[in-house]
Amino acid sequence: VEWSDAERSAIAAVWGKLNLDEVGPQALGRVLIVYPWTQRYFGTFGDLSNAAAILGNPKVANHGKVVLGALDKAVKNLDNIKGTYANLSQLHCEKLNVDPDNFRLLADCLTIVIATKFGAAFPPQVQATWQKLMAVVVAALTSRYF
Ligand code: HEM
Repeated sequence: VEWSDAERSAIAAVWGKLNLDEVGPQALGRVLIVYPWTQRYFGTFGDLSNAAAILGNPKVANHGKVVLGALDKAVKNLDNIKGTYANLSQLHCEKLNVDPDNFRLLADCLTIVIATKFGAAFPPQVQATWQKLMAVVVAALTSRYF
Protein backbone atom coordinates (compact mmCIF):
# COMPACT_ATOMS: atom_id res chain seq x y z
CA VAL A 1 0.00 0.00 0.00
CA GLU A 2 1.28 3.45 -0.93
CA TRP A 3 0.42 6.58 1.06
CA SER A 4 0.86 10.06 -0.39
CA ASP A 5 2.03 12.92 1.80
CA ALA A 6 -1.49 14.36 1.64
CA GLU A 7 -2.97 11.05 2.83
CA ARG A 8 -0.45 10.78 5.66
CA SER A 9 -1.23 14.25 6.87
CA ALA A 10 -5.01 13.75 6.57
CA ILE A 11 -4.78 10.60 8.71
CA ALA A 12 -2.52 12.31 11.25
CA ALA A 13 -4.93 15.25 11.45
CA VAL A 14 -8.01 13.07 12.06
CA TRP A 15 -6.21 10.83 14.52
CA GLY A 16 -4.72 13.78 16.42
CA LYS A 17 -8.16 15.26 17.01
CA LEU A 18 -9.75 12.03 18.29
CA ASN A 19 -10.28 11.31 21.96
CA LEU A 20 -9.66 7.56 21.82
CA ASP A 21 -11.18 6.96 25.25
CA GLU A 22 -14.44 8.48 24.04
CA VAL A 23 -14.57 7.33 20.42
CA GLY A 24 -13.54 3.72 21.13
CA PRO A 25 -16.43 2.98 23.50
CA GLN A 26 -18.89 4.77 21.18
CA ALA A 27 -17.77 2.83 18.11
CA LEU A 28 -17.84 -0.59 19.80
CA GLY A 29 -21.16 0.24 21.47
CA ARG A 30 -22.62 1.23 18.11
CA VAL A 31 -21.56 -2.07 16.51
CA LEU A 32 -23.19 -4.06 19.31
CA ILE A 33 -26.44 -2.08 18.93
CA VAL A 34 -26.66 -1.81 15.14
CA TYR A 35 -25.43 -5.38 14.46
CA PRO A 36 -26.69 -7.30 17.49
CA TRP A 37 -25.27 -10.64 16.33
CA THR A 38 -21.83 -9.27 17.21
CA GLN A 39 -22.88 -9.58 20.88
CA ARG A 40 -22.29 -13.34 20.65
CA TYR A 41 -18.53 -12.81 20.93
CA PHE A 42 -18.83 -10.84 24.16
CA GLY A 43 -20.60 -13.35 26.38
CA THR A 44 -18.39 -12.44 29.34
CA PHE A 45 -19.23 -8.73 29.15
CA GLY A 46 -22.45 -8.89 31.19
CA ASP A 47 -25.57 -6.87 30.37
CA LEU A 48 -25.90 -6.11 26.65
CA SER A 49 -29.71 -6.40 26.65
CA ASN A 50 -30.51 -2.94 25.26
CA ALA A 51 -28.84 0.18 23.88
CA ALA A 52 -28.62 1.96 27.25
CA ALA A 53 -27.10 -1.13 28.89
CA ILE A 54 -24.52 -1.45 26.10
CA LEU A 55 -23.53 2.23 26.20
CA GLY A 56 -23.28 2.12 30.00
CA ASN A 57 -21.39 -1.18 30.18
CA PRO A 58 -17.86 -0.61 31.55
CA LYS A 59 -16.49 -3.72 29.83
CA VAL A 60 -17.69 -2.44 26.46
CA ALA A 61 -16.10 0.93 27.21
CA ASN A 62 -12.83 -0.65 28.24
CA HIS A 63 -12.68 -2.92 25.22
CA GLY A 64 -13.50 -0.01 22.92
CA LYS A 65 -10.38 1.70 24.25
CA VAL A 66 -8.34 -1.48 23.67
CA VAL A 67 -9.50 -1.63 20.04
CA LEU A 68 -8.64 2.03 19.43
CA GLY A 69 -5.28 1.43 21.09
CA ALA A 70 -4.65 -1.24 18.45
CA LEU A 71 -5.69 1.18 15.71
CA ASP A 72 -3.13 3.63 17.06
CA LYS A 73 -0.49 1.04 16.14
CA ALA A 74 -1.77 0.97 12.56
CA VAL A 75 -1.68 4.76 12.33
CA LYS A 76 1.91 4.73 13.61
CA ASN A 77 2.94 1.93 11.22
CA LEU A 78 1.19 2.93 8.00
CA ASP A 79 3.85 1.23 5.90
CA ASN A 80 3.49 -2.15 7.61
CA ILE A 81 -0.07 -2.52 8.87
CA LYS A 82 -0.21 -6.14 7.75
CA GLY A 83 2.84 -7.09 9.80
CA THR A 84 1.66 -5.01 12.74
CA TYR A 85 -1.60 -6.96 12.84
CA ALA A 86 -0.35 -10.46 12.04
CA ASN A 87 -0.68 -11.74 15.61
CA LEU A 88 -3.96 -9.91 16.18
CA SER A 89 -5.39 -11.45 13.01
CA GLN A 90 -4.34 -14.91 14.14
CA LEU A 91 -5.90 -14.32 17.57
CA HIS A 92 -9.27 -13.22 16.12
CA CYS A 93 -9.26 -16.15 13.72
CA GLU A 94 -7.99 -19.10 15.73
CA LYS A 95 -8.80 -18.21 19.33
CA LEU A 96 -11.72 -15.79 19.22
CA ASN A 97 -13.34 -17.27 16.09
CA VAL A 98 -14.58 -13.86 14.99
CA ASP A 99 -16.19 -13.85 11.54
CA PRO A 100 -13.95 -11.44 9.59
CA ASP A 101 -16.99 -9.71 8.00
CA ASN A 102 -17.41 -8.07 11.41
CA PHE A 103 -14.18 -6.06 11.02
CA ARG A 104 -15.79 -3.98 8.30
CA LEU A 105 -18.84 -3.36 10.48
CA LEU A 106 -16.66 -1.99 13.25
CA ALA A 107 -14.69 0.13 10.78
CA ASP A 108 -17.94 1.57 9.40
CA CYS A 109 -19.30 2.35 12.88
CA LEU A 110 -16.04 4.09 13.76
CA THR A 111 -16.28 6.17 10.58
CA ILE A 112 -19.85 7.17 11.46
CA VAL A 113 -18.84 8.16 14.99
CA ILE A 114 -16.03 10.31 13.58
CA ALA A 115 -18.29 11.89 10.94
CA THR A 116 -20.90 12.69 13.58
CA LYS A 117 -18.30 14.32 15.78
CA PHE A 118 -16.40 16.25 13.11
CA GLY A 119 -19.25 17.28 10.81
CA ALA A 120 -17.92 19.71 8.22
CA ALA A 121 -14.37 19.02 9.43
CA PHE A 122 -14.65 15.54 7.86
CA PRO A 123 -15.08 16.43 4.18
CA PRO A 124 -15.34 13.79 1.42
CA GLN A 125 -11.63 13.88 0.52
CA VAL A 126 -10.68 13.25 4.14
CA GLN A 127 -13.30 10.51 4.42
CA ALA A 128 -11.88 8.88 1.28
CA THR A 129 -8.43 8.69 2.87
CA TRP A 130 -9.92 7.47 6.14
CA GLN A 131 -11.86 4.73 4.32
CA LYS A 132 -8.64 3.66 2.63
CA LEU A 133 -7.01 3.29 6.06
CA MET A 134 -10.01 1.28 7.30
CA ALA A 135 -9.85 -0.99 4.23
CA VAL A 136 -6.16 -1.67 4.84
CA VAL A 137 -6.82 -2.35 8.54
CA VAL A 138 -9.66 -4.75 7.72
CA ALA A 139 -7.52 -6.56 5.13
CA ALA A 140 -4.65 -6.86 7.60
CA LEU A 141 -6.90 -8.24 10.34
CA THR A 142 -8.27 -10.75 7.83
CA SER A 143 -4.87 -11.75 6.41
CA ARG A 144 -4.23 -14.71 8.73
CA TYR A 145 -7.64 -16.26 8.12
CA PHE A 146 -6.59 -17.91 4.87
C1 HEM B 1 -9.91 -8.77 21.53
C2 HEM B 1 -8.48 -5.39 18.35
C3 HEM B 1 -12.53 -6.07 15.83
C4 HEM B 1 -13.96 -9.42 19.00
C5 HEM B 1 -9.16 -7.79 20.89
C6 HEM B 1 -7.93 -7.24 21.36
C7 HEM B 1 -7.54 -6.29 20.49
C8 HEM B 1 -8.53 -6.23 19.45
C9 HEM B 1 -6.27 -5.41 20.57
C10 HEM B 1 -7.19 -7.69 22.63
C11 HEM B 1 -6.27 -8.80 22.24
C12 HEM B 1 -5.51 -9.39 23.40
O1 HEM B 1 -6.07 -9.52 24.49
O2 HEM B 1 -4.34 -9.74 23.18
C13 HEM B 1 -9.44 -5.30 17.38
C14 HEM B 1 -9.40 -4.39 16.25
C15 HEM B 1 -10.55 -4.58 15.54
C16 HEM B 1 -11.30 -5.61 16.23
C17 HEM B 1 -8.27 -3.41 15.95
C18 HEM B 1 -11.06 -3.89 14.30
C19 HEM B 1 -10.73 -2.68 13.92
C20 HEM B 1 -13.28 -7.00 16.48
C21 HEM B 1 -14.62 -7.39 16.11
C22 HEM B 1 -15.03 -8.34 17.00
C23 HEM B 1 -13.94 -8.54 17.93
C24 HEM B 1 -15.40 -6.79 14.94
C25 HEM B 1 -16.35 -9.08 17.08
C26 HEM B 1 -17.46 -8.67 16.55
C27 HEM B 1 -12.99 -9.49 19.96
C28 HEM B 1 -13.13 -10.31 21.17
C29 HEM B 1 -11.96 -10.11 21.91
C30 HEM B 1 -11.14 -9.20 21.14
C31 HEM B 1 -14.32 -11.18 21.53
C32 HEM B 1 -11.64 -10.70 23.28
C33 HEM B 1 -12.29 -9.78 24.29
C34 HEM B 1 -12.10 -10.15 25.74
O3 HEM B 1 -12.63 -11.17 26.15
O4 HEM B 1 -11.41 -9.39 26.42
N1 HEM B 1 -9.51 -7.15 19.72
N2 HEM B 1 -10.60 -6.05 17.32
N3 HEM B 1 -12.90 -7.73 17.58
N4 HEM B 1 -11.78 -8.85 19.99
FE1 HEM B 1 -11.16 -7.53 18.61
